[in-house]
Amino acid sequence: MAEELILDPASDRAARYAQLLPQLRALTADEPDRTANLANVAAAIRQAFGFFWVGFYLVDGDELVLGPFQGDIACTRIARGRGVCGTAWDQASSQLVPDVDAFPGHIACASASRSEVVVPIFNDGTVVGVLDIDSDRLDDFSEIDLQGLEAICAWLGDKF
Ligand code: SME
Repeated sequence: MAEELILDPASDRAARYAQLLPQLRALTADEPDRTANLANVAAAIRQAFGFFWVGFYLVDGDELVLGPFQGDIACTRIARGRGVCGTAWDQASSQLVPDVDAFPGHIACASASRSEVVVPIFNDGTVVGVLDIDSDRLDDFSEIDLQGLEAICAWLGDKF
């Protein structure tokens, strides 16, 4: 198991995502426990990029329930179709939100959040959870983040 992340401090985000995914694979390779692996993935993403909040919400019946995360305390349950997370689940598509105040129905769990990206995790074609990342900066996420995070979530979905 890799015990520390090795990231080039001079690398841009695209390069950093490329450095991160193989290390996430190594970090989780010998560990079957889902909670342990999601916890380390959340910690690694936050460590790599310094985002304000990084975590998982997992599908449980007709709600998302808070899973492993890094950051301030957050709301524990989100109904399907509600907020950015519930929308990502309901539409089975990633949500890139440059300004959370402009997203109708945004759930302000973390008051310092200014922009957000949510990526669904699919297993056998069904959404089983979402990866939610908040930034305390407006317009902090781009297609680069979407591509990097969707690659991480595609890998995670296969592991579920
Ligand atoms: N803002 C999210 C809720 C989760 S917190 O950001 C951690 C949403 O609107 O679904």
